[in-house]
Amino acid sequence: MCESGAYGDAVRAVRVGELNADEAAARLIDRMTVAEILGLLDGDSPRRLLALIPLLHGRRPFVAGAVSRLGIPGIRFSDGARGVVIGSCTAFPVTMARAATWDPLLEERVGLAIGLETRARGANYSASVCVNLLRHPAWGRAQECYGEDPVLTGRMGSALTRGVRVNVMACVKHFALNSMENERFEVDVAVDEAALHEVYLPHFKAVIDAGADSVMSAYNRVRGEYMDINRALLTDVLRDEWGFRGFVTSDWVFGTHDPVTSLQAGMDVEMPLRLLRARALPLALRDGVLGRATVLQSAAQILRTTVLHAATRESAEPGAAVIASGSHRALARKVAQESIVMLKNDTIGAAPLLPLPAETRHIAMIGRLADRANLGDNGSSRVRPPSTVSPLKGLREALPGVRITLTSGDNERAAIKAAATAETVIVVVGLDQHDEGESIVTGGVDVGVLGGVFAAGALRALVTGVAHLVSRFVRGGDRASLELRPSDVRLITVVAAANPRIIVVMVGGSAILTESWRNRVPALLVAWYGGMEGGRALADVLCGSAEPGGRLPFLLPTDASHLPPFDRSAKSVVYDDSWGQRRLDSEGHPPAFPFGFGLGYTTFEHRLLSHSISSSGGSAAVRVTNTGSREGSTVIQVYAADLSLRRPTSQLLGFQKVRLQAGEETSVRVTLDAGPTMQRDPVTRRWTPRAGHWAVLAAQQSPASWEGARPLRPDSDAFDSHV
Ligand code: BGC
Repeated sequence: MCESGAYGDAVRAVRVGELNADEAAARLIDRMTVAEILGLLDGDSPRRLLALIPLLHGRRPFVAGAVSRLGIPGIRFSDGARGVVIGSCTAFPVTMARAATWDPLLEERVGLAIGLETRARGANYSASVCVNLLRHPAWGRAQECYGEDPVLTGRMGSALTRGVRVNVMACVKHFALNSMENERFEVDVAVDEAALHEVYLPHFKAVIDAGADSVMSAYNRVRGEYMDINRALLTDVLRDEWGFRGFVTSDWVFGTHDPVTSLQAGMDVEMPLRLLRARALPLALRDGVLGRATVLQSAAQILRTTVLHAATRESAEPGAAVIASGSHRALARKVAQESIVMLKNDTIGAAPLLPLPAETRHIAMIGRLADRANLGDNGSSRVRPPSTVSPLKGLREALPGVRITLTSGDNERAAIKAAATAETVIVVVGLDQHDEGESIVTGGVDVGVLGGVFAAGALRALVTGVAHLVSRFVRGGDRASLELRPSDVRLITVVAAANPRIIVVMVGGSAILTESWRNRVPALLVAWYGGMEGGRALADVLCGSAEPGGRLPFLLPTDASHLPPFDRSAKSVVYDDSWGQRRLDSEGHPPAFPFGFGLGYTTFEHRLLSHSISSSGGSAAVRVTNTGSREGSTVIQVYAADLSLRRPTSQLLGFQKVRLQAGEETSVRVTLDAGPTMQRDPVTRRWTPRAGHWAVLAAQQSPASWEGARPLRPDSDAFDSHV
């Protein structure tokens, strides 16, 4: 897309430093009519396209604010989180899988690839950065986020943003507190100041500091106010406290509740149609309800960001050849390998079950997901790659000389027979788009936006009813249970009884409870929705040509009652600072597998040598040794906790993935984020260190014991001192 006309001149002037972006935007605005300026503030597509959104979303960018007379291209929108949704593009492992890599550099490469493919599809804006925190694993869109931890989420989301922005504008979503699905259009989240700023927002701030161009406001309400009209968050926090200078778009269709108030609150663009604002804004402006300055401010924010990005992005225009290219497929495979989490690998006979021994001759693959392209949900982040490698296909390709049989698992007797006759059994179980995912039409969706006749009465009831019905069949929504389907559990049980050499591979977007059957199986892997190359990556790990590089980005509890309450039909919820690993720590429940856990094919020792930390961050030096007999990777995780508490809760401060040869030893510098050890004064908005006896530890997962920890700040009066 080449810049032309007045817009092209503005971009060139910024590129060569003749104008800054604010001046360039002001010049453009000077040349625009009022109608053109107002046109920046909503989508360009007419409202009659409403019903066609699901279809068009996968065909072309949705454009907002294009002005052809001046060459202004507008915001040209594409989702999404696991690859580009327009046409047929590379399907990467879902965001949650990528969180499990704990590898921001790899995530930046994914961002670069998504940005390139987005641009090659004619878009200039990618809504791919989803950093809502996983408060509860039943959230239907858990797969689109980076797990339960603010520091991990912030680092990974920032990395994706940096990569995406090389080619297109990066949008971070859904601001804020959007962590449940079925009632996302209605739910009101109550949260106190401390939890809001210390738990649910730090990762948004991190991504904005990393350069995010745009923010998408969420559908839900926070403290009684829908997010598009939530001035307290959109303006007071986002702009005034954090200094965000980009633009805010609404979540789609049902995410704009008041055309005028939302603009005044700080939501710049109603997406994706000319639905509410097109009619309301000219009248409000004429009647003086809406100030000209408010309109101009949003227009300036949109244009300065767009011009600045066009002036600074990669200059080479990508061709169609970048889409699902060999290198992007190879990257998808690498990421999938690095995301697979090995939870168990017990020894049977002389050796652990994995990797599969070279002399293996007969494997039974069992389960309805063993030969399925299972890429994640069918919501807005759905990617349609040119081809997908299933677990069966991947393994057959990797082991051409081995007999690999497939049994769906529907027939237990057939499964038992297949298991009993094979040397090793691989059972692939878990979730698909029916169990979890985005729910486009559920909950309190306001069908009134379709027009006056839908605002109340029989028609409204009819449309809402149909929407609910459709959504039940089409979309997953929030999960009803954290367990596997009962048929999967039965399958594991009977197969394990038939052949003790059983490897269970779980597919899904977040935590699946394993308590009722885990002890029956010696080997257990989490393979997520692994993307178009997921089957090859799984085969690489099973055969041992790659390590299972993943570590859990959330904890796996032994019992769902240890997690915060989750009611998928709640119209109001309270989000506090007791969730995930921290909740289990403080309540004294040992997890099935802690946050950060994952085994490899080798073993490591980590030793904290020194650290220094100030209010703006710090670093730790950690000695790492590969104590095993093969090359492998480990994730150094540095945690802090207040040991004055009866039950200290561990907080991740930083992490670093390292790969070492067998026997190799090295010292690694780990960047630390002081945020989790700080508190924000709600009045002065200043951050200060929390009181307590804070200690720090280098570990391979969230620590169960703090033995050997060192004081975080040995002299609490000299917080900035070095240790
Ligand atoms: C989702 C967003 C998405 C948008 C456009 C909404 O329903 O919540 O994440 O970007 O649709 O597809």
